Amino acid sequence: MRSVLAVPAVLAHLVLMAVPAFAVVGGGEITMQNKGGSVVFSHELHVDGLGNACQACHPKLYTTSKQHKPVTMKAMQAGTSCGACHNGAKAFSVKGNCAKCHTK
Ligand code: HEC
Ligand code: HEC
Ligand code: HEC
Repeated sequence: MRSVLAVPAVLAHLVLMAVPAFAVVGGGEITMQNKGGSVVFSHELHVDGLGNACQACHPKLYTTSKQHKPVTMKAMQAGTSCGACHNGAKAFSVKGNCAKCHTK
């Protein structure tokens, strides 16, 4: 009896809980496909988690994924795109740590 009655309650709870999850931070999660393996960039981590203002990246480093022009690792190691921060000083370096960004 108890478990049967619990089902609708759990579902209602999940629906309520889902609302904040749809409050996307900035541009949300951006997947960048490339031959090093796909990279997911998280706005939630970089904005809410690390306290960066939008202007830390927009519009100097990035606009939108539609306008995305692929950057090479070599260019990132020279300080563009992710490498503007991931330089071993502000954040872990693009000269290593491959698996931190390339997840697949
Ligand atoms: C640490 C860097 C960084 C910060 C800070 C940042 N963004 Fe982004 N944003 C990105 C990247 C990377 C992309 C993807 C651009 C690309 O693919 O060339 C992006 C893309 C976007 C897009 C386009 C989404 C799409 O699907 O094309 C929007 C909208 C956006 N950001 C809004 C914001 C807003 C609003 C803030 C501040 C609350 C913010 N961003 C802060 C890095 C950042
Ligand atoms: C405005 C500076 C800035 C830019 C630009 C930036 N990041 Fe970051 N990122 C950070 C900082 C700071 C941290 C946390 C410090 C650290 O882990 O070294 C971080 C952490 C991360 C992490 C968390 C790793 C982990 O699991 O601990 C990932 C993944 C990441 N960044 C990916 C990216 C990617 C991909 C890009 C480019 C599309 C990017 N970042 C651009 C500043 C930046
Ligand atoms: C801070 C996150 C980050 C780290 C660390 C990182 N990459 Fe990348 N890498 C990216 C992103 C993002 C792209 C796609 C760039 C774009 O589309 O503009 C990329 C693109 C690539 C590419 C395709 C472009 C090219 O240069 O040929 C290769 C291959 C690659 N990475 C290999 C690596 C290897 C190997 C490492 C470790 C030595 C590494 N990456 C470390 C984020 C990272």
